[in-house]
Amino acid sequence: PFAVILQRSGKTVQVDEKTTILDALAKSGVIVPSSCESGTCGTCKTGLISGDVDHRDMVLDESEHTCKIMVCVSRAKSGNLVLDL
Ligand code: FES
Repeated sequence: PFAVILQRSGKTVQVDEKTTILDALAKSGVIVPSSCESGTCGTCKTGLISGDVDHRDMVLDESEHTCKIMVCVSRAKSGNLVLDL
């Protein structure tokens, strides 16, 4: 489990092992547009401010790995993530 900290709204959302960041956000009332939910379409692209991300999508290239995250599939590798939401 880890937490995502939403920089703009000041919220912190816990993400457990069985839940995607996308679903955890939705349960907290933060709706990120999504479509494929399998890391291929690009719809759920979200700004990443900081954190150690385990990128599991097929959308982002290396140059985006420090500033974007696909929240339908990717997770924290360690610690918490700060998102631009
Ligand atoms: Fe398609 Fe996340 S919803 S990449």
